[in-house]
Amino acid sequence: MCGIMGYVGPQQAGPILIDGLRRLEYRGYDSAGIAVTNGVINVRKARGKIANLEDILSSDPVTGSIGIGHTRWATHGAPTDANAHPHTDPTGEFVVVHNGIIENYQSLREELASQGAKWSSETDSEVLAHLVAREYDGDLVAAVRRTVALSEGAYAMVVMTKREPGKIVAVRKISPLVVGLGDRETFLASDIPAVLHHTRDFIIIEDDELVIVTEDGAQVETIAGEPVDRDPIHITWDAERAEKGGYDHFMLKEIHEQPAVVTETLAGRLDEDGTVWLEDVAFDDDYARAIGRVWITACGTAYHAGLIGQEIFRRVLRLPANVEYAHELRYADPIVSEDELTIAISQSGETADTLAAARLASERGSRLMAITNVVGSTLSRYADDIFYTRAGPEISVASTKAYMAMLIAQYLLALRLGAARGTVEPKVAQDLARGLHRMPGMLEEVLRREESAIAAAEAVKDANDVYFIGRGLDFAIALEGSLKLKEISYVHSEAMPAGELKHGTLALITEGVPVVVIMTQRSVYDKTISAVQEVKARGGRIIAVAYDTDTEIEHHADIVLRIPDMDDLLAPVAAVVPLQLLAYHVARLRGHDIDQPRNLAKSVTVE
Ligand code: F6R
Repeated sequence: MCGIMGYVGPQQAGPILIDGLRRLEYRGYDSAGIAVTNGVINVRKARGKIANLEDILSSDPVTGSIGIGHTRWATHGAPTDANAHPHTDPTGEFVVVHNGIIENYQSLREELASQGAKWSSETDSEVLAHLVAREYDGDLVAAVRRTVALSEGAYAMVVMTKREPGKIVAVRKISPLVVGLGDRETFLASDIPAVLHHTRDFIIIEDDELVIVTEDGAQVETIAGEPVDRDPIHITWDAERAEKGGYDHFMLKEIHEQPAVVTETLAGRLDEDGTVWLEDVAFDDDYARAIGRVWITACGTAYHAGLIGQEIFRRVLRLPANVEYAHELRYADPIVSEDELTIAISQSGETADTLAAARLASERGSRLMAITNVVGSTLSRYADDIFYTRAGPEISVASTKAYMAMLIAQYLLALRLGAARGTVEPKVAQDLARGLHRMPGMLEEVLRREESAIAAAEAVKDANDVYFIGRGLDFAIALEGSLKLKEISYVHSEAMPAGELKHGTLALITEGVPVVVIMTQRSVYDKTISAVQEVKARGGRIIAVAYDTDTEIEHHADIVLRIPDMDDLLAPVAAVVPLQLLAYHVARLRGHDIDQPRNLAKSVTVE
């Protein structure tokens, strides 16, 4: 996710901006830049690490005590010098940094181009600089307001103009923004840790608010222009904790980011009626209609996401779909033909096995689609079609929010294919769209119930073995819950379809053995209850994930992790969250290094 910095005060802005951007490095980025004003606006930017930007600044320095800075995580356009922020209007008098996505940037670009605009980058952000300049009539705040009214999406933007020195104007529409209050100097940042060593007093900007930053402080208003009276908060966390947004670990922070990740991944891609817009998917309706089979290939957590996709494609599209481990597929001499679409899923886009399987399928004539979180990754370069998941950089080795975004990607893809193939009833598409748009709120609700996951973790923390069971989509979630638990808590765990238990593993269920059962699939509910009873009869301890309205489960389970009622097809998105929290809290109670578990690496680039 991009990082934003701003400074107004008596000191040289350049070093303060660079220092702040360094402290935001943990968010991940692929280019960086600053703009500093001293009568004219000077912009310096570079692809790659901040050190590249510093090299440029050492030979071509900037002076001035007002400035804005940015670290970019590419979404629209590759990570290049030109696409790095800040972006200016053609006169160079207005400069913008931006975090998030302008959903209607294509139509804005076309409109501005028809008025003579020439573009220096491929980004959606440059549109904002042009718009502010066009809308300016002597009042920067009014120009920014009009720009916001024209720009749809979830974002934060920061604007400066040489016409109104001594001032920075910023807006928050979902993407985070904070103001740090110093002694006759004021800081702006997308996260508290960037400036925590300068001040501990912060104003948190809320959604749909605008802030005018000067050296005397900050004036907050709603986008509509109503004044906002907000007291600063005093931060007492240490810098390390602040980097994690106040959470003890990146994993917990990333679990809690999931509602926002769903919002970002959906942004601009899904209409209320279920129509889907995918900017980097190049295939046309004729191709979509001709697909005879979908292969999904991936490893680990991404493979578990693929299991959900397989089920969605089968159930929603009635389209044959198979998910294969990439390390198996690459040596399986696969039979793939031209009418088969291969979808390779990889957070990093660099997993060696996934790359090899994807390449093989592509060489054998299959069209290749990448679902990946990293713009410009190797997988995205191989692919004919790309779905970027927009989860933002995932720091914790155990994947949570990237998995979540992979699920959302596959629902959108199913709707896109369904529209072309005419296999999804409009009502079904509409219900799915509504359910997806409501999902961030549902996830917030699940996250508010973290206490139940903590109680379940207390019950599991001393276990030697934990079993996870479920049927259909619930089985796919059971696999992911089990993997999360073993990788960070080091507790042995296995997942299996609920119907499989009695074919062998039941021999291991004795007094007190925890069995986690996922109970969201109503069509097989009674069947799963039979497996629960088999466990209970042997003294096993049941931890269930179930809907709020499920009253039956209380008769069987020792602990129930509740999720709000929803369409069974979408339930995996919510049901995985209590299991991520369970794994996290077991690992915490056992005192493990949660973000860097033993023997594991974030990106497995070797075979
Ligand atoms: C588990 C985890 C791994 C990865 C797997 C694939 O939490 O993160 O199982 O999912 O190594 O990685 P990507 O998605 O980068 O291909």
